[in-house]
Amino acid sequence: MSSPVVPVDSAVYYSGAYWNDLPAVVEHLHTRMSGHADRTWMHRTLEHRGAPYRAALSLNVGNGWVERDLVRLGVVESAHGIEYLPDLVEAARSAAAEEGLPITYEQADTNRAEFHRGPFDLVVDHAALHHVAHIDRVVRGLCERLEPGGTLVGFDYVGPHRNQYPWEVWEAAHQVNLLLPEHLRQEMTYPHLPTMLVDDPTEAVHSELIEETVRRYFEVEQWEDLGGAIAYLLLTHNARLHARPHDETDEWVRLVLDHDRVFTAAHPEHNLFAFFLARPRHDVLAETEQLATWSAEEERREAAAGDAGSYYPPTSLQLLTQALSDERDRVRALEQSEPTSPAVRGVKAAARQLAGALVRSARHRIGELRRRG
Ligand SMILES: C[S@@+](CC[C@H](N)C(=O)[O-])C[C@H]1O[C@@H](n2cnc3c(N)ncnc32)[C@H](O)[C@@H]1O
Repeated sequence: MSSPVVPVDSAVYYSGAYWNDLPAVVEHLHTRMSGHADRTWMHRTLEHRGAPYRAALSLNVGNGWVERDLVRLGVVESAHGIEYLPDLVEAARSAAAEEGLPITYEQADTNRAEFHRGPFDLVVDHAALHHVAHIDRVVRGLCERLEPGGTLVGFDYVGPHRNQYPWEVWEAAHQVNLLLPEHLRQEMTYPHLPTMLVDDPTEAVHSELIEETVRRYFEVEQWEDLGGAIAYLLLTHNARLHARPHDETDEWVRLVLDHDRVFTAAHPEHNLFAFFLARPRHDVLAETEQLATWSAEEERREAAAGDAGSYYPPTSLQLLTQALSDERDRVRALEQSEPTSPAVRGVKAAARQLAGALVRSARHRIGELRRRG
């Protein structure tokens, strides 16, 4: 198997403020997933079976809060979790032990996991599959380990790989951002690919393949698009909005959610998050030729990506982001070394020119999109 993609530092997880830290967003997501503003995806998973599950396998568990909640709520009797980063495995283990909960953990790379435990009647993907490179191999393994009639439950990011949002999404979020009072607006910064690959090479590695791959091996019984193209972009890591009291921001958060609903309904292809319940299709596991084709396809893709993690062609916004970032770095370096040199003035002028060109190109593109209606 070609080189795995593994996380490097747990500091990137559980930091910053997310859209689902806001009460109105929680209400919105609960309603989409369970039909009730006060019922979580966990309640929905229990309702789906009508009785507690016996044993869950949970992927990429982080600090283990998901398994602890599932057991505490009586959704499942026991759980086993997989996580790569040793400090997170340790944190999850000791928190479960402290409460005497029947949960075990294994430090392993999910891409290479053998899934030798089980069988399980529940598999949990909570923000997990979007970190998996060998997605076909892993989802196939989950299908094998689930008992007939067992359940795969997913709550995950299924949007563009590496959060490389297309222009339409970025522009739609930008327009809604302008409707917010200035002090609550998001500082819209397009995800800079080279930085992402250093901070967390697993982030959204093949998120856009999740739905297709799940449907290969599972019969989907419920699939809910949860949106996010506008709301996730404007409300996650929006430090200014999260610094204000909820009763002050609530009406604006709801405005963003209203736009998000309309946009997601009109553009399902730009959905970012999904909730799903599915049962294994064990018959597919007998289709040896098909399985070999999918495995070969995955091996080719992973081998071609190599260590640099270059899977897909860059978006135009990524190229502009990198050009601006490189230019800013050059200006900074020159300012520090020779503050008054003619070279500094030259670079600054070049940077100004580039910024001007970006603005003109953005205006042109917006005009074009408007004309297309
Ligand atoms: C977004 S966090 C989600 C954690 C947890 N499921 C939750 O919802 O709080 C993603 C987790 O996947 C883990 N991870 C990423 N790649 C992995 C791999 N190849 N094998 C095992 N764990 C991995 C990360 O260390 C991190 O804890």
